Amino acid sequence: MVTTSGAVAAISEANDFRELNSFNLSFQLTGATMTTLQKTAVVTGSARGIGAAVAKRLSNDGFSVAILDLDEAACKVVVDEIKSAGGEALPVAVDVSDEQSVEQAVAHVAEALGPPTVLVNNAGITRDNLIFKMSVNDWDAVMNVHLRGSFLMSRATQRFMTEAKWGRIVNLSSTSALGNRGQTNYSAAKAGLQGFTKTLAIELGKFGVTVNAIAPGFIETEMTAATAARMGISFEDFKAGAAKQIPVARVGQPDDIAAMVSFFAREESSFVSGQVIYVAGGPTD
Ligand code: NAI
Repeated sequence: MVTTSGAVAAISEANDFRELNSFNLSFQLTGATMTTLQKTAVVTGSARGIGAAVAKRLSNDGFSVAILDLDEAACKVVVDEIKSAGGEALPVAVDVSDEQSVEQAVAHVAEALGPPTVLVNNAGITRDNLIFKMSVNDWDAVMNVHLRGSFLMSRATQRFMTEAKWGRIVNLSSTSALGNRGQTNYSAAKAGLQGFTKTLAIELGKFGVTVNAIAPGFIETEMTAATAARMGISFEDFKAGAAKQIPVARVGQPDDIAAMVSFFAREESSFVSGQVIYVAGGPTD
């Protein structure tokens, strides 16, 4: 018996088995029944940090994973790790803020790994400054990577998901969406991603595609290490200071976010869409 609602929806929408086959739907009947559609995931900004952890987690969950980042050599390091653990992965150089680069990268993924049905919009940058010192370039750079990048990547991949009648998009927001001194650009972009998430969930729901956002609190990565360096504080002191403000008394790790992405990407999560989950070690607002 097929128990997952995604599969039931796919079956009721399909008129015959030929149509089912054209959706590239296959069933793996294991103990608790599970369906497997095209299991190709794309994770942007996955050459390091949260993105790399997400890519490895999705690989463990059975996805072939496209590692997208600015520098192909950096992507290859993560690809090698996934492959040596028995997974399938592909390094792809991309600038998510560039339309042509995104279109080429997604076409390459579809050809080499199969049509992407999971997208994690994770690539990000910070260009922090108080508003009176913030340059137009720093404003635009942050908007372009987070907002334009998520728009371009979602537009390029949704066509495969709607065709497959199944898909998952997960956007990386931040607790900074609620306001954070020195981050008007980043906070506006991360709040913008929350509206983007809800609207995309409304548009794509009828195609079996869910869209959710994760808003992490402090996660130990090179991004937060760079913030500490900019502030002239050692990373250890910076983390200890942050942990004191967090109810679970520790800073987050990339795997904490990867676990949430894994949940959203599951078949059984098909009734959860348009949500923003704060993964921050405590309540945030
Ligand atoms: P990170 O700086 O360690 O990694 C970000 C990756 O994105 C890098 O590999 C970078 O090369 C890539 N990237 C940047 N611009 C790109 C572009 N135009 N095209 C393709 N790739 C690009 O950052 P981290 O900490 O792993 O953050 C990942 C995501 O999580 C970001 O969206 C960030 O804003 C968000 N986040 C991080 C938090 C943290 O505490 N580390 C907290 C809340 C949100």
